Amino acid sequence: MRNKVIAGNWKMNKNIPETAELISGIKAGLKDVPANVEVIICPPFTSLETASTLIKGTVIKLGAQNMYFEESGAFTAEISADMLKSAGSEYVILGHSERRVIFKESNELINKKIQKALASDLKPIFCVGESLEERESDITKKVIETQVTEGLAGVPAEGIANIIIAYEPVWAIGTGKTASPAQAEEVHAFIRGLVAKLYSQAVADKLIIQYGGSVKPDNAKELLGQADIDGALVGGACLKADQFLGIIKPA
Ligand code: 13P
Repeated sequence: MRNKVIAGNWKMNKNIPETAELISGIKAGLKDVPANVEVIICPPFTSLETASTLIKGTVIKLGAQNMYFEESGAFTAEISADMLKSAGSEYVILGHSERRVIFKESNELINKKIQKALASDLKPIFCVGESLEERESDITKKVIETQVTEGLAGVPAEGIANIIIAYEPVWAIGTGKTASPAQAEEVHAFIRGLVAKLYSQAVADKLIIQYGGSVKPDNAKELLGQADIDGALVGGACLKADQFLGIIKPA
């Protein structure tokens, strides 16, 4: 049995006082979380250290939303793995579609970031997903296969144990259009099969695959009930404590 992992991607939201307020709301409602449910929050860089202090002694874990693959140096405005770790992060979201689309991140760049994160003891939440045009052209699986294969190039089997894959169909992000549980399950099962082919069935069986894209309290239960959906990567609904808690509960 795989754990259920619910992560909140705060995106470019919440300054430091707002961070403290949201975390206090989440903490107040987080009671008796079973050991097989993990909760991760991914606030903006500027809130990481504050968040890290505020979640001490709780089950909440901390992640960042991006990083650069170089160790240090003249890379103005970039953030290194070491910086994220020193601010208390355990996870880092990599390859989010907003990074791929708006900031033109390639599979090759994402692969370098994944390798660096793993080498630095940070756990990547590696996002993949097709656009609406790609789904309508019936090339969803081909797109996912390329993203997964190129993103994981050179990552050894031991590395996969520290990676979460998040399937986020781009057309379902922030649109209120969720993939149906069957649509999501089909791609999740495909990803698990692909990882079994690239590594082994045993590695694939342990892999956590989250679904992301308009996950809300009222659709979380059905999505999380699918055989290959092991959690959620939540955007909009993680910015309000009661909604985020409403997604953790069915997990
Ligand atoms: P929404 O939940 O707002 O659709 O965002 C999903 C997402 O992009 C999480 O990374």
